[in-house]
Amino acid sequence: MEETFSLVQSANQILVTLLILGLGIAILVVAVLYILDVTQTKHAIRRNFPVIGRFRYFFEHMGEFFRQYFFAQDREEMPFNRAQRSWIYRSAKNLDNTIAFGSTRDLSPVGTILFVNGAFPPIDQHSAEPEPLVIGPYCREPYSTRSFFNISGMSFGAISKPAIRALSKGAKESGAWMNTGEGGLSPYHLEGGADIVFQIGTAKYGVRDAEGRLSDDRLRAIAAHDQMKMIEIKLSQGAKPGKGGILPGAKVTEEIAAIRGIPAGCDSISPNRHPEHETVADMLDMIAHVREVTGKPTGLKAVIGAYGWLEDLFTEINRRGIESAPDFFTIDSADGGTGAAPMGLMDYMGLPLKESLPLVVDLLHKHGLRDRVRVIAGGKLVNGADVAWALAMGADFCVSARGFMFALGCIQALQCNKNTCPTGITTHDPGLQKGLDPVDKSVRVAHYKRNMEYSVGVIAHSCGVREPRDLRRYHCRVVQENGRSVPLEEIYPEYRTGS
Ligand SMILES: Cc1cc2nc3c(=O)[nH]c(=O)nc-3n(C[C@H](O)[C@H](O)[C@H](O)COP(=O)(O)O)c2cc1C
Ligand code: SF4
Repeated sequence: MEETFSLVQSANQILVTLLILGLGIAILVVAVLYILDVTQTKHAIRRNFPVIGRFRYFFEHMGEFFRQYFFAQDREEMPFNRAQRSWIYRSAKNLDNTIAFGSTRDLSPVGTILFVNGAFPPIDQHSAEPEPLVIGPYCREPYSTRSFFNISGMSFGAISKPAIRALSKGAKESGAWMNTGEGGLSPYHLEGGADIVFQIGTAKYGVRDAEGRLSDDRLRAIAAHDQMKMIEIKLSQGAKPGKGGILPGAKVTEEIAAIRGIPAGCDSISPNRHPEHETVADMLDMIAHVREVTGKPTGLKAVIGAYGWLEDLFTEINRRGIESAPDFFTIDSADGGTGAAPMGLMDYMGLPLKESLPLVVDLLHKHGLRDRVRVIAGGKLVNGADVAWALAMGADFCVSARGFMFALGCIQALQCNKNTCPTGITTHDPGLQKGLDPVDKSVRVAHYKRNMEYSVGVIAHSCGVREPRDLRRYHCRVVQENGRSVPLEEIYPEYRTGS
């Protein structure tokens, strides 16, 4: 009996020892993982949420299997589905972006875009780099670039310091331009050495005087930077047409306030239009003034809704002479992104790019201004086929904001307005920002831009043209209600100048 008791006792002792040993090893492993996570700079989530952040990768991996049976399919999530995001993540990491077995894209829904492959695609030595395009031939310092995929406006404020540093360095490495958004110019925009487009928002952040009006001296000083290539006057933005920018007070730090020229800690709300614009003539006056002060190509950014004003604008340009035209027109889509906007405007207001892009391009043709005004298209152009479609439709350049956010590591947590972004992109909390290493992420930004251009080139070559800007509307077809597709050209017959 005593023997059995001592046997049980020693078994218990062994078990307790094993348990303590196991616990000790587990604590040691967690401590090592913790140190590895907080000291590495490649993964924002692991740096900000050491150890538990690792489960994301596990679940992300397993999710592919679970989703097939229980959850969203690869092409179901909004605003960007997993297939779109995965393509960006893989491009940004410069990983193999081929897929296996067959397409998961359903080719039957009405509106599906299909490209038509040519019988004799150019062989490698016949394919060409995109030709450089000149913007603003009549201003003192025209801008010429080959880059047809660039970084859309995101203000310092809406996005963080490390995010801007990564974008500016990545833009420089890959030859993209970077738009400041409406929050003014920070040293971080300039730091990487990229070409910069300065945006003048309705509140004139960064170039305002004490009364909030445009200050020529400040504008001149900003334009004096060699990197400053163009000036964009923002009329409206796809996510919030008819409403100015909104930056919640929690995100208005001392530094951001100083750059914008506003008080820190208070909500930063811009007017819903430029107070000096009552008519299209006022718009052209402002463009002429900004162009004269800066010497740089000056254009407009807008989301299109009602479009009678465009007829008036283009008529007025022809009355004044084509030099008076905006040097470029950035068309934003109704489903464009933002740091913060009211749902009613985000969900219901404005036209999507698929309607507004052909509309503006055709109106420019109609008024004989197509070659004078460069068209820049933006709005969910995040994968190669999106950009190829926009070029075929008539865009000269494409821009993306959220595509580049994904390249920075955005996981679509949809908290950009809360200062709690888990990846450090849209937060000013230093604890969360530390996860975003600007050097590592700049490489991803550059890879994404280069792989995007490569992917558009592949589509263009398959269509039988030498370079992406040779794509035309007849290279694209759209699926109709009867299940058959028709060429884009049939739905949007292209204006020929003079016809
Ligand atoms: C976080 C964030 C901040 C933005 N800030 C600005 C801005 O300051 N000015 C502006 O004109 N557009 C701004 N936008 C809109 C983008 O420039 C772009 O027009 C829109 O998101 C469509 O492009 P996308 O679909 O590639 O994101 C912002 C978008 C995001 C996501
Ligand atoms: S991770 Fe979420 S909060 Fe951060 S930028 Fe992306 S969507 Fe916005």
